[in-house]
Amino acid sequence: MNQDNPQIWQEAVTDLETLLDFIRFGATQMSKSDIYFGHGTDNAWDEAVFLVLEVVNLPYDLLPQLYSSKLTTTERQSILELFQRRIAERKPAPYLVGRSWFSGMPFLVNDQVLVPRSPFAELISRRFRPWLQKSPERILDLCTGSGCIGIATAVAFPEAEVLLSDISAEAVDIAWQNIAYHDLEDRVSAIESDLFTALPGEQFDLIVCNPPYVDQEDFESMPQEYHHEPQIALTSGFDGLDFTRRLLKEACNHLTDNGLLFCEVGNSCFALDAAFPEFNFTWIEFENGGHGIFVITAEELKSYFQA
Ligand SMILES: C[S@@+](CC[C@H](N)C(=O)[O-])C[C@H]1O[C@@H](n2cnc3c(N)ncnc32)[C@H](O)[C@@H]1O
Repeated sequence: MNQDNPQIWQEAVTDLETLLDFIRFGATQMSKSDIYFGHGTDNAWDEAVFLVLEVVNLPYDLLPQLYSSKLTTTERQSILELFQRRIAERKPAPYLVGRSWFSGMPFLVNDQVLVPRSPFAELISRRFRPWLQKSPERILDLCTGSGCIGIATAVAFPEAEVLLSDISAEAVDIAWQNIAYHDLEDRVSAIESDLFTALPGEQFDLIVCNPPYVDQEDFESMPQEYHHEPQIALTSGFDGLDFTRRLLKEACNHLTDNGLLFCEVGNSCFALDAAFPEFNFTWIEFENGGHGIFVITAEELKSYFQA
């Protein structure tokens, strides 16, 4: 029980009854705490909804009248324990339940992979239009983590063969679990690789990549929740661009002639524009929030790096 105010938590076990009671209670307790919301939700209410619905294993589009359903004692205790852990440990909620949502799909996660939250989800729902004119046959999700971007892209392009790759063996293991979770073993696979090292001679029509890109200064000031994520998933040198510099140089060898590279660099977009003034990066605008994803063609990369 929470030592700051044990009584209120003891009362909650007996006084609260319904799903809505628990969501309201969790939202109140989390609002009063100093936790940070940035891993799938941006406020205490949505965080409480996420935790409660994960425990009772019910969907987010639950019928409104079901919010008045009563919970069993075991469910009540599990939910209260999760609220308390979220506040005391400041771990992102998806790590506490082992699951996260991206692009409307569930993904298994643990603290060896980043919690999915990329604006890539919107691009996937648009099937990368207007930049992508033709359905890609081979897709690479570089820096795949849980596999969320590559797997959601595979679902958007049901004919494509998709490869997920990551430098972390633990991430590749989770990516494989998510491939199986979504029954995609027939056309999606995962491989451990430092950038393209394990992929010599391989070419793709579409490369999607959400690499580590947080600069040192931003990393140090990030709320505690982010420090539960693997640092290799977040930082990449002093200005956050060590990985992206290597990627830009090597990607043209792994793209087909009409291939496209979509890559996220978040707040490091300004540093990237400054580092490569000769490139005309196309920065994508998002309706649902988010920024810092560029698209560049194989042709443009080749003309610069193979000139
Ligand atoms: C920002 S996370 C993205 C994870 C996932 N794509 C997502 O959007 O949730 C970056 C990932 O890049 C991986 N990574 C870091 N350096 C790498 C490298 N040199 N080669 C391949 N993957 C790398 C990390 O292990 C981590 O899983």
